[in-house]
Order: sequence, then structure tokens, then C-alpha cells
Amino acid sequence: MGTPRKATPVGQAELHVDGRVLNLPVVEGTEQERAIDIGRLRDQTGLVTLDYGYKNTGACQSEITYLDGEKGILRYRGYPVEELAEKSRFVEVAYLMVHGHLPRAGEQQQFSELLTRHSMIHEDMTQFFKNYPERAHPMAILSAMVVSLSSFYPELSQDHVSEELAHIDITATRLLSKLRTIAAFSYKKSIGEPYVYPRHDLKYCANFLNMMFSSPVRPYVVNPVVEKALNTLLILHADHEQNCSTSTVRLVGSAKVNLYAAVAAGICALWGPLHGGANQEVIEMLEDIQRQGGDTRKVIERAKDKRDSFRLYGFGHRVYKNYDPRARIIKQTCVDVLRELKVNDPLLDIAMELEERVQNDDYFKERKLYPNVDFYSGIIYRAIGIPVDMFTVIFALGRLPGWIAQWKESQEDADFKIQRPRQIYTGPTLRHYVPIDQRG
Ligand code: CMC
Repeated sequence: MGTPRKATPVGQAELHVDGRVLNLPVVEGTEQERAIDIGRLRDQTGLVTLDYGYKNTGACQSEITYLDGEKGILRYRGYPVEELAEKSRFVEVAYLMVHGHLPRAGEQQQFSELLTRHSMIHEDMTQFFKNYPERAHPMAILSAMVVSLSSFYPELSQDHVSEELAHIDITATRLLSKLRTIAAFSYKKSIGEPYVYPRHDLKYCANFLNMMFSSPVRPYVVNPVVEKALNTLLILHADHEQNCSTSTVRLVGSAKVNLYAAVAAGICALWGPLHGGANQEVIEMLEDIQRQGGDTRKVIERAKDKRDSFRLYGFGHRVYKNYDPRARIIKQTCVDVLRELKVNDPLLDIAMELEERVQNDDYFKERKLYPNVDFYSGIIYRAIGIPVDMFTVIFALGRLPGWIAQWKESQEDADFKIQRPRQIYTGPTLRHYVPIDQRG
């Protein structure tokens, strides 16, 4: 792909400050999103910008994902996520993310072969799993294992970033394949069952399901509806432009650490309950509602109470001010999977009632808070048999192609810079050291 295409200059903005007028370029992307380029602001005025949570700040130019939160549009490399979820497979989308085009037949085959070749993890790494305590959270294990890969596969060291970019298929497939194996092994460790090794004859999602659920006494038969649902879920999670974990991968990667370290940092960011960890919080919240008799009104009142820090997990989004297109697909997938598996989950009824109440509540309407990607996904995972603390691990598996593509793009950007925000200092002004016996 090479260095990302740059936005087009389309005009100037005037900034009046300290009696001076500064002209700042206005640039426009391919979907007519516009930005004021403040790259020379500090040099020319001594001022910086202040923007908590980066609500107004574009940190990069990117060709990977287009997101219009007002209209509920999400496209990967130009393709609507709805089309990809319906027609494609996760591995194909991973290729699209990394390379910018859908694979041709030969490219697809080579990518799949590499995924099979790299699916094992070094046998010594299996010792690590054994030494984690019983209740270790799989996200802790996942991040530690991913950063440990840099010791077992040191070719991806900081001196060789350019080499890894040149062999991006190997870099990408190695991580995609090994993350899946690590995720399944961490689950097996948590339930005290022997690890199930990857199989060359199974496709990516079927292979993961088999590693999770097959056992020496009970072989697992992959249900095509479940396999399709997992493909859909992973595709829907594959990228979401400059979200918290992706920005983390770019920021950590900007120090030129190896890709494993950057991705491990992304996994840690994703773990948070305001980000990918929300899928676990949603199920725990729905279970709580069920335990307390199923009344959804109480949690809605709590979420609206400004004295209470409680939030309605699975609702709201920094960018979407309309129905999250991913949530719509996941809701339908949820209904399909439960029907196929003949599962009658009361949490689905509670979730649907909660959504309906929220949609008719002025607090949520005024703030444009809709269900997000995490609201219905947990009910699917439950039906498949995936335990709650593995939910965010599956999110990480899905997000990985996005992280790799964004890391690659940032490293190849002609305007590459180490990321280092400024601040406005508000602490004490100069004061001098006082010996302890003289302190008041
Ligand atoms: N429940 C109750 N009130 C909410 C919620 C919620 N889930 N989300 C936002 N609000 C309110 C918030 O209190 C604020 O109200 P006010 O204007 O009166 O102060 C207003 O809506 C705007 O919220 P914000 O916190 O300023 O918005 P943000 O863009 O900083 O936060 C968010 C986005 C996703 C962190 C937030 O909506 C939230 O905490 N949601 C619950 C956690 C969740 O489901 N996270 C998963 C996000 S999707 C997966 C991913 O990409 O990570």
C-alpha cells in the first residue's frame, strides 16, 4: 500500500490570537470530512490546543476505515461492513485490512497456508499458562503472552520493523494465528482441561471453536451457524478507526517498539469496561437485573442519576449518534444463533426490553445513546458456550487485523512522528526544598 494518501487542501481558517491573525490550512478527506491543520500553531504562536478525550482531534490520516457516526455508516477500505458481514469471512477481511484490497485466489490461498503454518506456539510457552493462578483473567494472560512472543520470535525486534513491514503477510498471519491459539489455551487452562492443538484441515473460526470446545473424551462438531456467527462477530470487530486501543497501538508503536509490544498494549487498553470490556459488563448487568426480579426500570433510573457512577453498559458511543450498524447485525445474529441452538436465554428478553425502554426515554434520546457493538454480542457468546471473562478476548481476536493494519499504516506514513502530546501545566509554581524538621 505504501504511504497513505494525504487529504486535499481546500481552504484556510483564520485564527485571531493576541492581536494577530494566523491562517491555518483546511484539508478534506475523500468522504468530505474536513480538518484544520494546526501543525505549525505552536511554532507560530507559542500556543497549543487543549482537547480532553481528543473529541475534536484527528491524530492521523488513514485509508483504512470510514465511520460516519451521525449516519451510522461503517466501511472497511470502502466496503460497507454489512456486505462484508454477510458475504465474506474473517480471514478475507483480515487480508483486506492489511493489504487494502480483497485477496485474489492465489493471495487467499497463500495467506491461509501461512495462517496454518504459524498456528502453533513455542512449546515452552505452554509452561507459562500452567503458572497462572486459577482465577487469572484471560485478558491478563493474553497481553502477557503476546508481549512474550517477542522473546520467542525475536525477528520482530525494534531493529527490524522495516523488515517486518516488507514481510507483512508473515507478520500478520503469525500474530493472527498465534493469538487464536493463545486465547483457546488460556480458556483450557482456566477450566483445567488439556490444550487442543490447531488443525490444518479447519478454517480459522472452526479451528478456534474446536480448540475451545473439543476434549479427549468428547470431540467437538462445528455447527456451521455458529461458525458463521463467529466469522460475523470477528468481522464486525475488525477495525473501528482511532478508538482507544487502536490509538494505543499507534502511540506505543510510534516509539518503534516491536509489533508484539504495541499489540499487547492495545489488548490492555481494550480490556477496560468503557471499551471492549463492556461486553462482559453487559452480561453481568443483565444477570444482575435477572437476579433482582427482571425489572429493567431500576437500572435505567440508576444510569440517569448523576450522583451514581453507574452506566448502562452496551449503550452510547463516542462516535455513533445513531444506531451502531454493528449492533443491528449482531442483534439479528443473536436471534439466529439462539434459534439454531434451541437456546431460550431469558437475558435476551431482558436485553430487548431494556433497549425498548431506553429508546423511549428522553434522557437517552436527548443524548443519542443507542445500543453499541457490545450490547448483544455477549448473549451470542453465552449461547455458544464461551464464558463471560473470555468475551473481551474474542473482541481482541477480531480487532487484531485492524491493529496490524493501523500499525503498518502509521509506520509507513511519510509524516511519521513519535507521538507525544503537550499539556497545560496547572501545578505549583517554583518553590524550594525544605528539610523535614522545618516543614509545617
Ligand atoms: N449510560 C448512561 N449515560 C450515558 C451512557 C451510558 N451508557 N453513555 C453516555 N452517557 C451520558 C453521559 O453521562 C453524558 O451525559 P451528560 O451530557 O449529562 O454529562 C452524555 O451521555 C455523553 O457521554 P460521554 O461520557 O461524554 O460520552 P463519551 O463519548 O465520552 O463516552 C462511552 C462514550 C462509550 C465511553 C460511553 O457512552 C459509555 O460509558 N458507555 C458505556 C460503556 C460501553 O458500553 N462501552 C462500549 C463502547 S462500544 C465498544 C468500543 O468501541 O469500545
